[in-house]
Amino acid sequence: MSQTKERLGFTSAIGLLAATLGSAVGLGNIWKFPYLTGEYGGASFILAYVLSTFLVGLPILMAEIAIGRRAHSNAVGTFRKLSPNKPWWLVGVAASIAAIVVLGYYTDVVGWILAYTFKSLTGSLSVGDPKAGAAVFTALISDPWQVVLWQWGVIVFVCTLIAFGVRKGIEKTTKALLTLLFLMLLVVCARSLSLPGAAEGLAFLFTPDLSKLTSEVLLMALGLAFFKLSLGMGIMITYGGYYREDANIVTTSLRVMFADLFVSILAGIAIFPAVFSFGFEPASGAGLLFFTMPAVFNAMPAGQVFMVIFFVLASVATVGAMLSLLEVSVSFLVDSTHFSRKTCSILMGIFFVLFGMPPALSNSCMADFTLFGMNAFDFYDYLSANILMPSCGFFTSIYVGWVLGPKFFKEELSNKGVLKMDTTISLITIFLRYISPVLILVIMLKGLGIF
Ligand code: PHE
Repeated sequence: MSQTKERLGFTSAIGLLAATLGSAVGLGNIWKFPYLTGEYGGASFILAYVLSTFLVGLPILMAEIAIGRRAHSNAVGTFRKLSPNKPWWLVGVAASIAAIVVLGYYTDVVGWILAYTFKSLTGSLSVGDPKAGAAVFTALISDPWQVVLWQWGVIVFVCTLIAFGVRKGIEKTTKALLTLLFLMLLVVCARSLSLPGAAEGLAFLFTPDLSKLTSEVLLMALGLAFFKLSLGMGIMITYGGYYREDANIVTTSLRVMFADLFVSILAGIAIFPAVFSFGFEPASGAGLLFFTMPAVFNAMPAGQVFMVIFFVLASVATVGAMLSLLEVSVSFLVDSTHFSRKTCSILMGIFFVLFGMPPALSNSCMADFTLFGMNAFDFYDYLSANILMPSCGFFTSIYVGWVLGPKFFKEELSNKGVLKMDTTISLITIFLRYISPVLILVIMLKGLGIF
């Protein structure tokens, strides 16, 4: 254990909370949550997402941390250790593949954010309305060299951090900057809410129309719940290995979940009132953040300055998430080869340069390359968030809830009876055993059109 502990460099409980939250908060809050909300019907999507988070995400988050803490190993090793000679480790393999697929396109989006940070510094984002913003964004993503070079910059940066194992300092910095991002979001929310017609945006966010809750909407919401809490990817299992025996898994998970949800809702309030006020289309897909934010900032005093700060902070928020994603494959490679951590980081860097190219080029040279009717970017996203993560989540809930069983789960959550939270723990155990697996199965099968 001490060897793995050194590998990540976590020593304190505070570091753990920061790392868990650092992995959760990221592009999911400021980019994915708003654009999916816009595309899939506003408040009804948010309702489905919040329910998925509570009923499915939360119990699985606790289950992943619990088995990780018991086994002190990576995603594959944890299942191997707890159930030797059984095929459960395959869940760990699928989870690690999910992490690789996510990072393949995540670096692409972080590259867009960096490009925007640069553009906001040079003043080329002074657009008056989201339509002009859309033109700037389209020009960026359809320029193959620009997207690829920004993405490579991102990959080199994270691989360097991982190679030198400087995680601890990064977690600290990320935590401080996350607070700043949060304050920044509050300022943008205030601006967005003061625009004429903002109420329409609020109604879109908070008045659900239940007729919009189709099985596709449910599947997307479930996928987001997994993506947001970094579940079904072996990450929380690995991090669980660094939780101390006296750490309170239940309260930590609840804190992470609420904080994360709160940041997403704030991002929604920052974006939608402005979208409606400008008469812009909320369902404009992955570009939503990039079309509207420049217009919102340009409509406020000293907007340029705020815009630079916003994009810098947004870039920073992604670092914790990327570190956690890359750690999965690098530590797996370190454990299963004789190569040093540095060599493994370089190898993974080269791999991600290649693997990240199809999504990065999916709006330019590889626009015609489709898989199952989706371009590479959408395919990576769909495969990971809607298939791999929920499947791994399903098997994890069966594994912990039924194979290891309620006695194991309760023992871990209560720190062997030390923590007196019987009612909460029993409730979560019921969710994990009966509600999560059934919901995942029904939503996945329906959403994929299987029945
Ligand atoms: N949870 C992160 C976010 O919202 C993304 C992420 C997904 C990080 C999966 C790690 C694993 O941006």
